[in-house]
Amino acid sequence: MSSILITNIKKLVSTEENPPKWKAGKDMSKLPSLENSFLYIINDKIAEYGTMSNIRAEFQQASKIIDASGKMVFPAFCDSHTHLLYPASREIEYVDKIKGLTYEEIAKRGGGILNTAQKMKQTTVAELVDSALERLDEIKKFGTGAVEIKSGYGLDTEEELKMLYAIRKLKEQSPLTIKATFLGAHSIPAEYRGKQEKYVDIVVNEMIPLVAGEGLADYVDVFCDKGFFTVEDTDRILAAGVNHGLIPKIHANELDYSGGIQVGVKHNALSVDHLEYTGDSEIEALLGSGTMPTILPGAAFFLNMPYAPARKMIDAGLPVAMASDFNPGSSPSGNMQLILSMASVLYKLTPEEAINACTINTAYAMGLEKELGTISKGKKANVFITKEIPTVEYLPYYYGANKIESIILNGQIA
Ligand code: NIG
Ligand code: FE
Repeated sequence: MSSILITNIKKLVSTEENPPKWKAGKDMSKLPSLENSFLYIINDKIAEYGTMSNIRAEFQQASKIIDASGKMVFPAFCDSHTHLLYPASREIEYVDKIKGLTYEEIAKRGGGILNTAQKMKQTTVAELVDSALERLDEIKKFGTGAVEIKSGYGLDTEEELKMLYAIRKLKEQSPLTIKATFLGAHSIPAEYRGKQEKYVDIVVNEMIPLVAGEGLADYVDVFCDKGFFTVEDTDRILAAGVNHGLIPKIHANELDYSGGIQVGVKHNALSVDHLEYTGDSEIEALLGSGTMPTILPGAAFFLNMPYAPARKMIDAGLPVAMASDFNPGSSPSGNMQLILSMASVLYKLTPEEAINACTINTAYAMGLEKELGTISKGKKANVFITKEIPTVEYLPYYYGANKIESIILNGQIA
């Protein structure tokens, strides 16, 4: 048995005796915390927490004692939407965008999803795993303890499976909790332009049965938007996925009022993500559903797009989650502390709402709300210890810097 006792915690944040499945509406501003407290971890679980005056003598026998005077302890971030498995960066595309080049010009010069798919063919599983492990290590240092990773840069059966094999290796090798998503319908391969239903046939009839048969993915995703996959395509793919035991989690309403949110809700998607184009009927569709509306501030910021109406959604009583969308094109950062800052500055979330959006609500969007996302007895010990900071608000306020000193994942200092 291994155990860790963290003492003298200035503030233990998000302590929930009976953790909710998510936080919605007004509850998003509730962030129960304990001052001058301790956290006791046995093996990979949170065993006990409380104020220093309630610490029991036996806890002092812990294999390791950490004095957190002046520091705070938070549940580690859950990042419920990333594409962090990719063969090469695309900074040329970023410069081209600044210069105002068109989408076609950018694609010609090596940008876009299809170019990443070309590079994928020349990359081995081992190379993919090595570079992704470095990115996982980087996001871990910024406080992320669980992450969802998508395929979607393969765009044919063999390459999509290759990406999912690589994600399986990451699950085995990384201390982070990882969920895998099959995103065969990320972009329409050039040879299927004008006949994309033929590509959808392959996704439905060939890829999904293989992916599900080998147990390679937890979720099925579709980029349902203007110029990408239609509502009809999405309907077919999600139905096939559900038939094979894959839970939907989709890209929706990034470029238009595409009907993506509604088709996601229809198939009981665990989350619908992006949501720049969310109006009253989309909010209506989400209310009362089990689908987590997930906003990706990094992509909207990096592409200079309109911001999703997060405030309106919360005020309507919805939960809102926020994730990084870490990918080489639209959001080359997996820093969730930066997402907290964007949540408050760009979307007008209070720091409490932002923290809930990036912990318990993203845990729900990964099907991990019973295990992660709050400081609760019996949950997995995935927590980070900050450097000495004056207040909780300081975390989003002092943006860009890493305010985290160390992270404990599965009850181990990672
Ligand atoms: O989530 N919206 C679609 N897909 C990604 C972009 C991936 C890329 O450009 O490589 C996104 O933003
Ligand atoms: Fe994405």
